[in-house]
Amino acid sequence: MKEPIPTPSGEPAIRTIAMPGDANPAGDIFGGWLMAQMDLAAGNVAARRARGRCATVSVDRITFLQPVYIGDEVSLYAEITRIGRTSMTLQVEAWRRSRDGEEQVKVTDATFVFVALDQGGRPRVIAPSMGEVRS
Ligand SMILES: CC(C)(COP(=O)(O)OP(=O)(O)OC[C@H]1O[C@@H](n2cnc3c(N)ncnc32)[C@H](O)[C@@H]1OP(=O)(O)O)[C@@H](O)C(=O)NCCC(=O)NCCS
Repeated sequence: MKEPIPTPSGEPAIRTIAMPGDANPAGDIFGGWLMAQMDLAAGNVAARRARGRCATVSVDRITFLQPVYIGDEVSLYAEITRIGRTSMTLQVEAWRRSRDGEEQVKVTDATFVFVALDQGGRPRVIAPSMGEVRS
């Protein structure tokens, strides 16, 4: 029996198009551009949950699984997997889709940690949310 084609779960935090200016000298999309998109997606989800300013404090195990090409639609998924006192861990994935195709392919994943910040740029306690388990 044929294996089911993997698909991303949930809604993307952001979706964008890889443009020629995002390519490396070989013509594929530059990994640094993809990392920036992942950071934007995770930051968007983190700021919404923490109800305010957050900063990236660490990025772990970033893995580039497949290349991204000019013209690809790139969708960024970010899920909060842990909430601490002032920090949050997010699992972030990037998926590509050819401009003229339907199939989505996971291209990158990584674990990000964000810290909620106060106005002085110091760690701020994240207010609890109903039914949430902290670690
Ligand atoms: C984020 C920042 C304010 C944290 O300051 P700090 O003195 O390390 O703060 P603390 O030691 O109180 O740690 C705060 C939280 O971050 C977590 N943390 C700190 N460093 C971490 C790391 N390297 N990895 C994972 N978590 C980390 C701590 O565990 C703590 O989490 P908790 O409150 O949920 O238990 C400081 O490191 C900073 O300003 N960094 C620069 C952020 C930035 O500019 N990001 C963009 C990069 S371009």
